[in-house]
Amino acid sequence: MAHLALRGGSPVRTEPFHPWPVFDDRDKQALIQELEAGRWGIGSPSIEAFEKRFAGFCQARHAVACTNGTDAIYIALQALGIGAGDEVILPPYTFMATAVAVFMANAIPVFADIDPVTYNIDPESAAAQVTPRAKAIIPVHIAGNPADMDGILALAQKHNLKVIEDAAQAHGAAWKGRRVGALGDCGTFSFQSSKNLASGEGGAIVTNEDGLAERLRSFTNCGRVRNGLWYEHHEVAGNHRLGGFQAALLLAGLERVEEQMKRREENVCYLTGLLNSVGGVTLAGTHAGTTRHAYHLGILQYHQEEFKGLPKKRFIEAMQKEGIDCSSGYIPLYEFHFFRHLAEKLSTYKALYEGRVNYRSGICPVCERVCAEEAVWLTQNVFLGSKKDMEDIAEAVRKIKTYVDEAL
Ligand SMILES: Cc1ncc(COP(=O)(O)O)c(C=O)c1O
Repeated sequence: MAHLALRGGSPVRTEPFHPWPVFDDRDKQALIQELEAGRWGIGSPSIEAFEKRFAGFCQARHAVACTNGTDAIYIALQALGIGAGDEVILPPYTFMATAVAVFMANAIPVFADIDPVTYNIDPESAAAQVTPRAKAIIPVHIAGNPADMDGILALAQKHNLKVIEDAAQAHGAAWKGRRVGALGDCGTFSFQSSKNLASGEGGAIVTNEDGLAERLRSFTNCGRVRNGLWYEHHEVAGNHRLGGFQAALLLAGLERVEEQMKRREENVCYLTGLLNSVGGVTLAGTHAGTTRHAYHLGILQYHQEEFKGLPKKRFIEAMQKEGIDCSSGYIPLYEFHFFRHLAEKLSTYKALYEGRVNYRSGICPVCERVCAEEAVWLTQNVFLGSKKDMEDIAEAVRKIKTYVDEAL
């Protein structure tokens, strides 16, 4: 009789994990209020109130709400004057939007490898990518785990690079006691449905610089300026404004954020202990400067040598059959064919033809290994559940380890 569900044995669990997104009466009330207030968009008190509350949450002077996390990066690049021919350094271990926003701004994404412990951009690798055309760096706080901001800020200062934190996954995460987002020039957030603070779609940019805040607002709002006329436009800029209903949902969601963060932290801590006693799977580490991880993802590090060489893909299949929602996560961004082809087609990417920037396999070996062999993702909602949910995850790992021969 087989033990593993992969071979027809009974699975560790059959119940679903904690649902997401969640809402309560506060969201319903907020939506009705927004409906009845009658603005629904620009001028809605919910939008202004959300911007104030979110800036406070991020310990930043300003927050500018916008359509989504991709546009937030694009707006930030435009407001910082990054454009055609400029190089922007970023990690390949991120959602495609980080690089796509750079393309949208007509700039050139240049990849730096990731740190093998945190999976965040490695400042040393980033330093090796700096050329006279490098104008900005985008550290991504992947999974909600802060990147090494001391290393990034020092590098940026040395080479006069703008710093845009991609904090799409990192609401509430903190570096040396300060929340991420406004540690560099500015930082961007996403409120897309899966995010720890969600309104279906939505985004924001935070900053401590007053002048930059005005430019961010202008690029979000068709190039308009404060106290300007409605048909007075100062930039080539589109409409990237957040809607009032989304702001209303975000205001309600903000009231739950702290409680949800605590719950995730408790469950991650419990799961870490359980996994340590099983062995072979650990949680991705944090940098010494990290004082809070937002756990948008719990990234597990799978050590296949402790599973008789069972490939990651097969391990994930076995976990899924045991009823554990986990996945393989990203591939290095530059491995996407469309990414290479688009980059090669666009005439602004002359640098590519000169061979200075390339997107060939092998440029970021740590990222390639992590994606192929090591990283296994659990999403944030899993950590909103019970202790029993954590026990099931650890039990599934233990079962696969014990009966690994059935999976090989
Ligand atoms: C790291 C990262 N950057 C940017 C984005 C883009 O955000 P959005 O989907 O709101 O455009 C996401 C969203 O998944 C993300 O995870």
